[in-house]
Parts: sequence; C-alpha cells; structure tokens
Amino acid sequence: QTALFPRKDWSGRRVLISAGPTQEAIDPVRFISNRSSGKMGYALAEAARMRGAEVVLVSGPTALPAPTGVDYCPVTTAEEMRKALLSRFTWSDTVIMAAAVADFRPAHPSQHKLKKRHHPITQLDLTPTDDILQELGERRTTQVLVGFAAETEDLLAHAREKLHAKHVDLLVANDVSAAGSGFGSDTNRVVLLAADGEAEELPLLPKRDVADRILDRILTVPTARRT
Ligand code: CTP
Ligand code: CA
Repeated sequence: QTALFPRKDWSGRRVLISAGPTQEAIDPVRFISNRSSGKMGYALAEAARMRGAEVVLVSGPTALPAPTGVDYCPVTTAEEMRKALLSRFTWSDTVIMAAAVADFRPAHPSQHKLKKRHHPITQLDLTPTDDILQELGERRTTQVLVGFAAETEDLLAHAREKLHAKHVDLLVANDVSAAGSGFGSDTNRVVLLAADGEAEELPLLPKRDVADRILDRILTVPTARRT
C-alpha cells in the first residue's frame, strides 16, 4: 500500500463515514459536546477514497479541511447528524461511525444569550440524544456496520457490550486515556473487535495507517449478511 499507487480494493463500494463531535446548544453562544478532533474519521474518508470508494463524510465541527474527492456534509447537532446519515443509509454498503456524538443535549436551549450576571447557569436539564449507531443497527439490511468505542477503563469489556448492543460487525475499541491515543493525537492504538468474537490488537500507528488497517479488516466482513 503506497501513497503513489494505492490498491483500488475499495472500488465500487459506497461508504458513509461520520466524524468529529456534535454540538448541542445551551444558548446561541454556548454548547455541550464530546471531545473529538475528527482526525480518525477524516483519515478513514481519505483512505477509502484513495482505495477507490465513493465516500460521503458527515462531519461535526472540526478544525480540519474537507478532504478532496469526498462528498462532504457538515452538521452541528446529533439530530442533524442522525438525519444526514439516515438519508444516505440505503445508498451505502458500509457505514463507519467514527463521530463522537454528544450523548446529551440541553432540554430547554435558550434563543437568547443568557447573561451570566442575571441568569447564571448553575444547573442544566439534559435529555439523552438518539443513539444513531443503535438505530442504524436496527434498520440495517445489507450494510456492513462499523462502530467505535471510546473508553478509559475496561476497554474490551465495554467495547464488547457495545458491539452486541448496537448490532455492528466490527467495533474499533479505543483507549482514549492511553499514551499516543489521546484526543487530537496523530497516532492511535486500537483493538478491532469482530462480531464473531475475534480481537485484533494493532500497534501504535499514525491514524492514516490505522484507517487502512480498519479498511483491510472491513473487506473481510461478508457484505450481504443476514440481519
Ligand atoms: N454513537 C451514536 N450515537 C450516539 C452516541 C454514540 O451513533 N448518540 C456511536 C458512536 O459514533 C460510536 C459508538 O456509538 O461509534 C459508541 O460510542 P461511545 O461514546 O463509545 O459509546 P456510547 O454508546 O455513547 O456509551 P458511553 O458514551 O456511555 O460509553
Ligand atoms: Ca458516548
């Protein structure tokens, strides 16, 4: 796999990738979010395109430039991301949820900026966001579904739970507290958990190489699977 002559082993595949965080408004200038640079998802989009795939990248707000040659769909909230992914779900044959979707959103966002002196926010009512991957897992027909798990402890146990709960084929387990795997890092160390129970531990690698290894592994998952 060289940059100059990449294998076109993803030709003909239609890949939907989510990346970055989502932001849920408290008021027009404040939000809650999950931590994510977007680098892993963008690396996956770039790698899949280089290998010949048609790629749609649904991205929350990041500091990264849109990768060339991919259909770029910027979103802000979890609900916007959900709608963008659902509307392209039947088009796709592979979905990779690398986004750090916010788990909660303020229940009563304010239309006006809350002045800190008159309306200091000391408590916030939150509502859980919809779990997009879970929903895709329930609606899937022939798509290969890949999720991520960001964990700080009991990496494999928690990741295995998510693999089964969300009905995905492959789960990329990511210890976000480990050295070199931190948020914003250009490297990552992950374990690839497959639905058949197989676990492949990858070494610490640049995120672009991790992306290629994930794509290699996805190609071994049969496409037209039962439900
Ligand atoms: N995910 C999603 N929609 C959400 C939350 C998460 O689609 N509202 C997806 C993420 O994109 C990721 C996977 O679910 O692919 C696991 O996300 P993670 O945050 O690790 O797990 P959660 O299920 O959200 O549980 P928790 O944060 O409590 O560990
Ligand atoms: Ca979460």
